[in-house]
Amino acid sequence: MNTLLRIRHLDKHFANGRHALRDINIDVARGDMVALIGASGSGKSTLLRHIAGLVAADGGSQSLVEIDGCCVQKGGRIHRDIRKVRSQVGFVFQQFNLVARLPVLVNVLVGSLHRMPWWRSLARVFTAQERAQALDALARVGIADCHAQRASTLSGGQQQRAAIARTLVQGAKVVLADEPIASLDPESSRKVMEILARINREDGCTVIVSLHQVDVAMKYCPRVVALNQGRVVFDGPSSALTPALLHELYGVQAEELLRPVAPEPAPPVAVPWTAQPASAV
Ligand SMILES: Nc1ncnc2c1ncn2[C@@H]1O[C@H](COP(=O)(O)OP(=O)(O)OP(=O)(O)O)[C@@H](O)[C@H]1O
Ligand SMILES: [Mg+2]
Repeated sequence: MNTLLRIRHLDKHFANGRHALRDINIDVARGDMVALIGASGSGKSTLLRHIAGLVAADGGSQSLVEIDGCCVQKGGRIHRDIRKVRSQVGFVFQQFNLVARLPVLVNVLVGSLHRMPWWRSLARVFTAQERAQALDALARVGIADCHAQRASTLSGGQQQRAAIARTLVQGAKVVLADEPIASLDPESSRKVMEILARINREDGCTVIVSLHQVDVAMKYCPRVVALNQGRVVFDGPSSALTPALLHELYGVQAEELLRPVAPEPAPPVAVPWTAQPASAV
């Protein structure tokens, strides 16, 4: 396996005593698309935040997170060169995390800030090439025509697509998407998942996406890692994840994962127009 992400013995207790991650060991190959599923509170966001080096695991532990051979954190300490590793990691959040008052194009250009000298990033001076690259990324996610709008004026689905365009401009090797479709309607959800699958397929970008819905995970991700109360309870092909197995792994909580996404609205039924008989005057 050409391993891109290596996680070993990841344990996390929060200050309130909550044991959120329990001895997580996962390898993800370069170019994989992996769904992280689990009921609310199972540890999906916490795990993604550890992978990105936003949170440190328990101090004094044997924990390790490596991306492409570079250390993100070890033994509960974030690596001192974390900025370099983080530039390889695109993070897509449920709530989009765009700067509402800035134009969409500038939000996307923020993805290239790590490559510029500090004075240029402060002054937000972007070259024509950088702008062209950002426009290209917006075109790939299908919202190039929105580039001049303030981010706050986009729909939720469009904002999420802009957030993905930002990771494209960043040139991320791995995209971590934390419930990217949780706030979206079915059609926007489908578009966002298809874009993630496309950047995985076309750019070879490794994608790890946390999802509530097993049906979406199975449709887009060949591999599923299932968490329950901070522990990995299943790691394998999504095709092996039957409702019976989910019930075995989660008990009554399986219902939360098996609940289908709200059905797409039925297309309007074409009712033949019939002329009303002219009322007798
Ligand atoms: N900063 C924190 N301090 C204390 N406890 C926390 C903190 N962050 C998360 N937790 C706890 O850790 C557990 C895992 O939380 P996490 O947010 O990772 O779950 P999740 O699987 O992402 O849930 P959801 O599907 O609702 O987003 C939960 O019990 C949560 O309350
Ligand atoms: Mg979460």
